[in-house]
Amino acid sequence: MSKYLIFGATGQDGSYLAELLLSHRHEVFCIKRRSSSINTMRLDGIINHPSIKILHGDVTDTASVMQLISQIKPDFVLNLAAQSHVGVSFNEPEYTAQVDAIGTLRILESIRLFNRNIVFYQASTSELFGGLDDKILDENSSFNPRSPYAAAKLYAYQLTKMYREAYSLQTFNGILFNHESPRRGENFVTRKITMGLSNILKGKFKSIKLGNLDALRDWGHAKDYCEAMYQMVNLNKPGDYIVATGECYSVRDFLNTAFQEVGIKLKFVGSGVLEQAIVMEKSKTDYNTENVAINQVVVEIDPIFFRPLDVPKLQGNSQKFRELSGWSPKITFRELVAEMVKYDVAF
Ligand code: NAP
Ligand code: GDD
Repeated sequence: MSKYLIFGATGQDGSYLAELLLSHRHEVFCIKRRSSSINTMRLDGIINHPSIKILHGDVTDTASVMQLISQIKPDFVLNLAAQSHVGVSFNEPEYTAQVDAIGTLRILESIRLFNRNIVFYQASTSELFGGLDDKILDENSSFNPRSPYAAAKLYAYQLTKMYREAYSLQTFNGILFNHESPRRGENFVTRKITMGLSNILKGKFKSIKLGNLDALRDWGHAKDYCEAMYQMVNLNKPGDYIVATGECYSVRDFLNTAFQEVGIKLKFVGSGVLEQAIVMEKSKTDYNTENVAINQVVVEIDPIFFRPLDVPKLQGNSQKFRELSGWSPKITFRELVAEMVKYDVAF
């Protein structure tokens, strides 16, 4: 049994990771930041477990980080805390840097000062690459951050690597490609689509308003990726590792798959800001589509969701990590979409 401390435990990944660690009989210290409303909903299923402790803390506060690390004396620290929305980072660049970049520095400095034997995991990201060309990305691909979020995460990535080299800390950068689940934040594109579809089926809204439908992403399931994080920090081989499915789909593909799941076939018409998706056919499934009409416009473009710069394509090659750990994703793209649709429609 080891002691794991998770910064960002109330988020999508933090909640799956905490569950996984408890299933392996570890002691889990979940750090939550102060908020005016309840922010531990994703931990509801495990909150009363005897091996979990939920403590207040904030990575923007040096004393808070130092106190947690010195008092808890963890064996592992996983830094999942972030302002994790790329679009929002254009509007809140300084705040994003405080949390995502300097927050990581605070944790690494605390580890350096209090216990250099702590194993540290940094939630690095495929956003570092910028995704401007058609290449499949691996650990040797060059970085080209295209948002304040990615720039902050690049600082954190370099620092994590540098503390390994300078101070012999056992640090890991998990360079994770996009991963989703029913616990995904509501303003990321996949969850926005599955929640939007649910509202359309319930007759609450007629359409979903989105930005760039051409973006291509390597979408995996957060559960599989938390398993990868756990295996990574137990590798005894500190380093920088890509975690990806290797498959790539567009936002348009995600829309088609989600609507097909409930028996609706879409047709995309128009282009640019005038592009729309309309209902072409309906077929029988377990889902009730009586509130949806043939020819109804169910997807529209709203330029408010365009970013000053976007990342066109992210597709990863995780061979290095797979060969070392034996990890591979278990949940397919189709299964991921189906699970998200089912969860949101039932909600
Ligand atoms: P998420 O759902 O947005 O969770 C982020 C977590 O960070 C939440 O628990 C949040 O608390 C916490 N947090 C934010 N600011 C904080 C602060 N100042 N101090 C302490 N905690 C703070 O993100 P996720 O999808 O689980 O991703 C986990 C990590 O992996 C993030 O660092 C993200 O950037 C990175 N990442 C994600 C993906 C992906 O596709 N999901 C891919 C690559 C890398 P609240 O609950 O109170 O908001
Ligand atoms: N959020 C959002 N909302 N994105 C939209 C929308 C919309 O209405 N319409 C189109 N998109 C496009 C975005 O422009 C982007 O190209 C793509 O859909 C994916 O957007 P997000 O789901 O917001 O994810 P992301 O790829 O920008 O960032 C996520 O993955 C990164 C790993 O590659 C986040 O989880 C980051 O924290 C993570 O590092």
